[in-house]
Amino acid sequence: MSPALPKAPAHSQFSRPSSSLIGRLLLTAMNQGHQPLHAWGLKRLVLRPSDRVLDVGCGGGAAIKRILRETRREVAGVDHSPAAVDTALRANRAAAASGRLRVVEASVEDLPFRDGFFDAVTAFETTYFWPDIAAGMAEIRRVLPPGGRLLIANEYATRSDAGHWADRLEMTIPDGDHLAGMARQVGFSQVDWDHHPRRSWLRLVAIA
Ligand SMILES: C[S@@+](CC[C@H](N)C(=O)[O-])C[C@H]1O[C@@H](n2cnc3c(N)ncnc32)[C@H](O)[C@@H]1O
Repeated sequence: MSPALPKAPAHSQFSRPSSSLIGRLLLTAMNQGHQPLHAWGLKRLVLRPSDRVLDVGCGGGAAIKRILRETRREVAGVDHSPAAVDTALRANRAAAASGRLRVVEASVEDLPFRDGFFDAVTAFETTYFWPDIAAGMAEIRRVLPPGGRLLIANEYATRSDAGHWADRLEMTIPDGDHLAGMARQVGFSQVDWDHHPRRSWLRLVAIA
């Protein structure tokens, strides 16, 4: 569905953190290091207290922690790494124990939720590793109702922003126009994206 882009194989610690010490340390480091990106992305999304929210590729769960503060409804996370699921649950123990938070092992291409279940879906620093970004967006659109919103926030807006990491981690990095085109192609009706004023960051909001 995204013919101009190479597929990103999922075999680095960034694309699928393992339960090894390195994988765990990386999840903890990302929980610290990605917080400014989470805050910047969510500033654009503006969650409502009544929103049910899914965070895709949730990693260690730092974005989920922030989302839990911005809505009063159920929150869910998915990640195809069991170590990430475990770390995200530990990072948000109280919400998980209360039943307000569910974090499950799943891939973006096959989300274990019914059609239109969420009001908003977030994806931070994860699209680089999806095997087919457009297919992932289409599956996200399925779990949103008309008017539901998708936020994608990435620290690398283009392949050149990522420098040598793009090749080393085999990342797929479409620029904002390309990403927006894919969102429209899978049926999102209104798509806007912007850059951080001082960094290479990109955030895209698409309305189903
Ligand atoms: C660089 S980490 C970012 C984690 C987290 N979102 C954050 O902001 O710290 C990328 C995460 O996306 C997950 N991921 C990659 N491809 C995925 C896919 N196809 N489906 C679900 N999760 C995926 C990885 O396992 C990893 O936890």
